[in-house]
Amino acid sequence: MAEARTEGQATVLKILGGTADDYDAIVAESTLGRDAHWKRWILQRMVEPKQVLDLASGTGILSFLVTDRFPDVHLTGVDLQEDYQAVAVARSKERGLDDRTTWIRSAVEDAELPSGTYDHIITCYLPKYADRPVVAKLLATWCAPGGRLLLHDFAHPTDPKVDALLRVQYERWLAKVKRECPHWIPCFEDLYDIVKSSTWTDDFPGLLEDAGFEDVELTFMHQKTAAFVTARKPA
Ligand SMILES: C[S@@+](CC[C@H](N)C(=O)[O-])C[C@H]1O[C@@H](n2cnc3c(N)ncnc32)[C@H](O)[C@@H]1O
Repeated sequence: MAEARTEGQATVLKILGGTADDYDAIVAESTLGRDAHWKRWILQRMVEPKQVLDLASGTGILSFLVTDRFPDVHLTGVDLQEDYQAVAVARSKERGLDDRTTWIRSAVEDAELPSGTYDHIITCYLPKYADRPVVAKLLATWCAPGGRLLLHDFAHPTDPKVDALLRVQYERWLAKVKRECPHWIPCFEDLYDIVKSSTWTDDFPGLLEDAGFEDVELTFMHQKTAAFVTARKPA
């Protein structure tokens, strides 16, 4: 059983504990298919990757998109939760990817990874939970010279009409999971407020610049319900 050392990690265990088995279906449906679009956005920006680090790799949705698209890649996935990582490890075996993948069960904040190694560091849905001052410095340590960061998470829309629609969508999902899959109730009870109160799109770009990254860019998508931060470590 994973233990939480930060507030963000405790939140993760509270809202995602015990949800690994049907995570892929829920994320696809509850984002109206946009999760796949956001992951493709990341894939399309990867340039000749060789050593890829997927942080908060979960069940491996993004990880396997990368290994499928880039046959020469070695992918390292880091995740806090055993049940999520167990799904990724089983899929890796089924696909014959044992030689091309490494799975590390750890909080990102505590992960012990080699310095200057990864030409691409990617993530979906870590930034709002992460201890960002710590993680920004770790990213700078782990990234290879000239390497790229491609980071994604939910964002909170500034348009009140979009916000109201989003809130209704969360309420509908909460009603649905109460009927059909109660292990998702903590997630749909809390996620709207977690995203709304997160300051990750405001603070992470500056923290990455302070850690030595350049070309740091923040991009919003889908009426600011999602955001990406991209950056490059000087060569
Ligand atoms: C919503 S899932 C996303 C999984 C995957 N990135 C995807 O897009 O399908 C969030 C994942 O982040 C992991 N996670 C959150 N905070 C973490 C942290 N500080 N360290 C490691 N893993 C973390 C959780 O265990 C969970 O597997």
